[in-house]
Amino acid sequence: MTSMPALPPRSAFPQGFLFGTATSAYQIEGHRFGGAGRTHWDSFAATPGNVAGAEDGALACDHYHRWAEDLDLVAALNADVYRFSTSWARVMPEGTGPVNPQGLDFYDRLVDGMLARGLKPAVTLYHWELPQALADRGGWRNADMPDWFAEFTQAVMARIGDRVWSAAPVNEPWCVAWLSHFEGHHAPGLRDIRAAARAMHHVLLAHGRSIGVMRDLGIKNLGAVVNLEGATPASDTAEDHAAADRRDAIYNRAFLEPLFLGRYPEALLEGIASHLPDGWQDDFDTIRAPVDWIGVNYYTRRRIAAAPGAWPGYAEAPPRGPCTGIGWEIHPEGLTDFLRRVARDYSGDLPILVTENGMAGDGLTDSARITYLAAHLQALRTAIAEGVPVTGYFVWSLMDNYEWALGYAARFGLVHVDFESLARHPKASYQALARAWARDGLANGPKAP
Ligand code: FCB
Repeated sequence: MTSMPALPPRSAFPQGFLFGTATSAYQIEGHRFGGAGRTHWDSFAATPGNVAGAEDGALACDHYHRWAEDLDLVAALNADVYRFSTSWARVMPEGTGPVNPQGLDFYDRLVDGMLARGLKPAVTLYHWELPQALADRGGWRNADMPDWFAEFTQAVMARIGDRVWSAAPVNEPWCVAWLSHFEGHHAPGLRDIRAAARAMHHVLLAHGRSIGVMRDLGIKNLGAVVNLEGATPASDTAEDHAAADRRDAIYNRAFLEPLFLGRYPEALLEGIASHLPDGWQDDFDTIRAPVDWIGVNYYTRRRIAAAPGAWPGYAEAPPRGPCTGIGWEIHPEGLTDFLRRVARDYSGDLPILVTENGMAGDGLTDSARITYLAAHLQALRTAIAEGVPVTGYFVWSLMDNYEWALGYAARFGLVHVDFESLARHPKASYQALARAWARDGLANGPKAP
C-alpha cells in the first residue's frame, strides 16, 4: 500500500471552480517555424554557460504543427480552461511595425481549436520571448517599451480578443526584471541593479498600457500574473529577518504594491530609488489600471540569510524540507499563506486564480507529482474554506518543454515528450487529474487520447 494523498475531486471545490493547465509560446511552439523573428532567448542560449546544453526553443515540442493533438490532450484532461501565451516575435518579427500574418493565423487557429473543444482560452501576451530587434534597443531598459508593448497588444488582441476568456499582459514581472537583469539567470543575462530597476518599472508600465489598450478594444476579464515565493528567515536573528524582508520586498511586494496600492515598498526604494527612470512617481495611475482578477504562480519558498556586500545584502541558505529534483523546496502551506495574504493586503474580493503550480520530475509513473499536486490543491482548499476567493487552478505544465536555462532536462509536464520523436505520452499524474476533474463525478477518466 502506498500512502499517496488522493487528488481532491472536482466536487470538493465550489460550483464553477475552473481547472486548467498552462504552457508558454517559446517553451513549446518551435520558434523556427512560421516566420517568427529572432528572440533574445535565441542569443542568450547561444552564449556559452547560459543554458544547459546551449539548448534553445527552435524546435521545442513542435506545437506549431502539433497543436491540434495537444489541444486534444487538454480536453481529455477534463480541463475547463487552457492558459497559453502569444509570442511577440512570432506576431511582430521586428518587435514593432509589420505584422507576420502567419503568426496571427496561428493564434487564430489555436483559439478556435480551444473553443471547438469546449476549452476557455486564457491568453498571456508576453511570456519572455522578447524580439531581438527590441533587445538590441535595450529591451526592457528602454523607456519606449510600454509603447511598443501597447502596439503589440493592439495587433494580437484585435485579432483574437473577441474569443478569449481572459487575458493578462505579462507573465511573472519579477522574472522579467530581477531574474533576467539582476541575477542574470534568464535572457538578457544582466547583473546590473540599474537595469533591473528600470526593467521593473517599464514592465509594470507596459502592463498598465496593455490593460488600457484591451479595455478600449472591449475585451473582458483582464488580469495580472505574478509569481510569489516565500522568503523565510534562515535564523531568528534580526539580521536574517531584515534580509528576508528585503527579499520579500523585491520578489513579492515589488509588484503587488504598485498594481494594487500604487506605490513601491519602502524596503525596495532604499536600494533602487536612484536607479528608477525620471518621473516614476507619476506612473502609478497607469500601472494600477483596475484588473478583474489576479493570477498567482506558486512553486516554492527559500531560506534567506543576511550577507555582507552591497544592497540587498542577502544570500540563500540551503533548504531544510523535502525538495524536487531541481532543488525547489516543497512547501504547500506557502500557497495557503500567499492566497490569504494577497486577498487580505491587496486584492480583497477580486477573484484569485492560481495560474501556475507544479514540479519537475522524471518518469511516466510520476507519483511524486501526484503527491505534490494533491498537497497544493488541499492547501488551496484551506484558503477557500477561510473565504479567500480563489476561483481557478492551473497546473504547470501540459507537457515537458523547454525549461529556460535548464534546457529540456527539467520535465514539468503532465504529458511526457520524447524529444527525439516528439511523441507525447500522458503520465500517471495526467490520468489521475483527468479522473479527479471528470464532470460526471464518477471515477472514470477520459479515454487515453
Ligand atoms: C515559471 C514560468 C514557467 C516555467 C515554470 C517552471 O516561473 O512561468 O515558464 O518556467 O516557472
